[in-house]
Amino acid sequence: MTAATVDVALGARGYEVRVGKGLIARAGAEIAPLLARPRVAIVTDAAVAGLHLPALEAALAGAGIASTALALPPGEATKGWAGLSRTVEWLLEARVERRDIVLALGGGVIGDLAGFAAAILRRGVRYVQLPTTLLAQVDSSVGGKTGINTAQGKNLVGAFHQPALVLADTGVLDTLPARDLRAGYGEVVKYGLLGDAGYFAWLERHGAALLAGDAALRAEAVRRSVAMKAAIVARDETETGERALLNLGHTFAHALEAATGYSDRLLHGEAVAIGCGLALDLSVRLGLCRQDAPARLRAHLDAVGARARLADIPGDLPGATALIALMAQDKKVVDGRLRFVLARGIGAACVADDIPPEAVAAVLEGAPA
Ligand code: GLY
Repeated sequence: MTAATVDVALGARGYEVRVGKGLIARAGAEIAPLLARPRVAIVTDAAVAGLHLPALEAALAGAGIASTALALPPGEATKGWAGLSRTVEWLLEARVERRDIVLALGGGVIGDLAGFAAAILRRGVRYVQLPTTLLAQVDSSVGGKTGINTAQGKNLVGAFHQPALVLADTGVLDTLPARDLRAGYGEVVKYGLLGDAGYFAWLERHGAALLAGDAALRAEAVRRSVAMKAAIVARDETETGERALLNLGHTFAHALEAATGYSDRLLHGEAVAIGCGLALDLSVRLGLCRQDAPARLRAHLDAVGARARLADIPGDLPGATALIALMAQDKKVVDGRLRFVLARGIGAACVADDIPPEAVAAVLEGAPA
């Protein structure tokens, strides 16, 4: 299968996202033109390493590129200060120099962590993203947001550092657990909701087949999502305006993830899907959006077997006041006022400031609009 290419048009920091089946097996040839010398350092996690590291190492060796790898523990807890210092020190011990390239092989945790380590190592070395989850392929590997979590919240420490190349091998999605795939689908649906009603309708037609394993549909969904993200990032690299739309559903999602301890109870993409529904509820309550939009979203998520509502999260959740307090650490808070990405309808997101906490509480409590 030939790869599709999406350009992220950022001038001197611009790069290509290549999307298609078999890119890991071709990684040596894809990466070789970027290298000043034939060696790379790979950062991955132990679960991904078991599945895909031998293929990547063989591909690199086949192109005459030497590699060394660090396999970190899988899971969100790795994306913290301890994981960062371990990665940076390992890269220094591996004698990664300024002109070398770091490869990030994994999902969003590894991409964000390795990207941030690359951003601060020797004041910045280049890195290549090889995203292995649907979520990382459609969102976190593109756009240069890197960072770690702290006790105060998610992604509060980090840097904008664009990759030199992204290789999204859609073949690796075949090895993803069904739940991770469905969770990543939350970020796919987000793109339709935020800016392209036609794409949302396409997902309504093809989402179930895509999740069931149709390779061409998967590659098309990744390409189309990445193309939307690339266009937004090219216009607003550091999120001074439009890029905030990519955070549709995320203010609710981050609060729900904090409330569930960033655990298996709720995966990030699941939180985003539920958060998108709540953002549409809030939009209806504030008179921005037609009443049928949240129901249409939830009907689609139900149809593909994805989590769609607060009641789909197992166990008890804190009340609305506690969830709103968790939102106060969100990077979208301005002068302590709540700022949300809302929608005027499916395919039409907008940023809204100074949202009354009572409206947010009513949505969380499921009060009728
Ligand atoms: N995930 C949101 C962004 O990259 O801006």
